[in-house]
Amino acid sequence: MAKKKRAKMKIYITGVAGFVGSNLADKLLADGHTVGGCDNLQFGVRSNVPDGVIFKEVGIHEIHYDINNYDILIHCATANIIYGMSEPINTWITNTVDTIELFKAFSGKIVNISTSSIYGNSAVIPTPETVAPSLTSAYARSKYASELFIQERGNYTTLRLTNVYGKNQRHNSPYSGVIGKFIGRLRAGEPIQLIGDGSQTRDFVYVDDVCEAILLAAINHPLNTEINIGTGIQTSLLEVASLCLEYFDGGIEHIQQREIDNITNRALDCSKAKELLGWKPKTSLSEGIQKLANIYSL
Ligand code: UD1
Repeated sequence: MAKKKRAKMKIYITGVAGFVGSNLADKLLADGHTVGGCDNLQFGVRSNVPDGVIFKEVGIHEIHYDINNYDILIHCATANIIYGMSEPINTWITNTVDTIELFKAFSGKIVNISTSSIYGNSAVIPTPETVAPSLTSAYARSKYASELFIQERGNYTTLRLTNVYGKNQRHNSPYSGVIGKFIGRLRAGEPIQLIGDGSQTRDFVYVDDVCEAILLAAINHPLNTEINIGTGIQTSLLEVASLCLEYFDGGIEHIQQREIDNITNRALDCSKAKELLGWKPKTSLSEGIQKLANIYSL
């Protein structure tokens, strides 16, 4: 059967120079959509923004005047969980106050990118969306508050992402996720820093799979609900380190826990994403790390 053609849309991405936003922009441009976006470059990198994006270097509180030319808003911009440890007030301002203003200023459908951090250290694994939040960081509190606001606003789909990894994840930033940090250190000839004994687990999902989920949420009618995006599979950090060491030379050093390392295990139940979006991840962790090895060994 011939593949059904997707209609072309005008899509605005906040945080378009960031890790997820820039990968998403690549995908949307390749699919023929018009893509606009902004980033204040606090965490994002200008060179991540693909050619073809109508880009403004501004924060989300400065863009309201032109976003209503777009059909859909995809809100990827966020103050980071690690930044939130030292800057809880600025995290609240960006992720809650400015985000709510943005949601009010835009009249169309919104895909809101949220986080599995709102489940805290859940006893239920894999964790479904019905589990009550346990807000153990400034970041989680700020993201959950904006989820509550968009529920009142309507015309939205919120995606709660688990630990995303892939191309454009920064290698030299203190704010980066763990796989970006591991590969960055190995490429620099330094040992991987494993926090604690490495038995803690996370649910790692490849960025291309996440972008497909976001695209499906964007082209669907608004579902007005929260949907987990992950794999449902727990992998220990020790296993992640071993996988990275299959492709890059190096070793491991053990370091102390951070304040945010209060999550022992994480895996998301993603049956709702399958049911409502027809989405499931395609890339295993070993395939994803192999892809990164191919990209970064060139
Ligand atoms: C990550 C994201 C967070 C997101 C959440 C759920 C980052 C920095 N964190 O939080 O934004 O809301 O997933 O989607 O993007 N670790 C090491 N060595 C390191 C760094 C980390 O062993 O150098 C370990 C940590 O102890 C932790 C695991 O790796 O157990 C994951 O850490 P990290 O990537 O920082 O993310 P989360 O805290 O899970």
